[in-house]
Amino acid sequence: MRRAVCPGSFDPVTNGHVDVITRAAGLYDELVVAVLVNPGKAGLFSVEERMDLLREAVTDLPNVTVDSFQGLLVDYCRSHEIPVIVKGLRAVSDFEYELQMAQMNRELAAVETLFVPTAPQVGHLSSSLVKQVAKFGGDVSRLVPKAVDDRLRERARREGSS
Ligand code: PNS
Repeated sequence: MRRAVCPGSFDPVTNGHVDVITRAAGLYDELVVAVLVNPGKAGLFSVEERMDLLREAVTDLPNVTVDSFQGLLVDYCRSHEIPVIVKGLRAVSDFEYELQMAQMNRELAAVETLFVPTAPQVGHLSSSLVKQVAKFGGDVSRLVPKAVDDRLRERARREGSS
């Protein structure tokens, strides 16, 4: 059984994430999408909300499950017997930090990292940009799954009326 994990903050999941998750799901028998909790960073969405939005985004992918974890990614990999991390690369600028993390994770626990270049149509996407655009009423409906768009619109409406 070939297993891999696709980790991230997913605050919230974008079509760029869905692209990487879909392609990784085609390469492995089981793929876990793991929301890594950073206790020092308050996100826009709670971890539960992020997981719900992810679950909705991957309903068509039967070999994908969604989980969350607080701690080192390699500890999650070890305890779930997952030997591979899959990460998306949007641009060369992503590579430097991703390479450092991949080397560190291999040193810590012999976990390998597989890099998937994102589709060019989603190469400009990041959760932070999407949040910024949505906060000021911009249209992000083509950039995120429908459930995420609905939730972002609801937030912007609530903030606008308070
Ligand atoms: O979506 P992001 O914020 O780019 O994801 C980064 C993430 C969560 C995958 C990374 O920060 C991570 O692996 N965090 C878990 C803590 C950890 O293992 N840190 C050491 C990395 S070498």
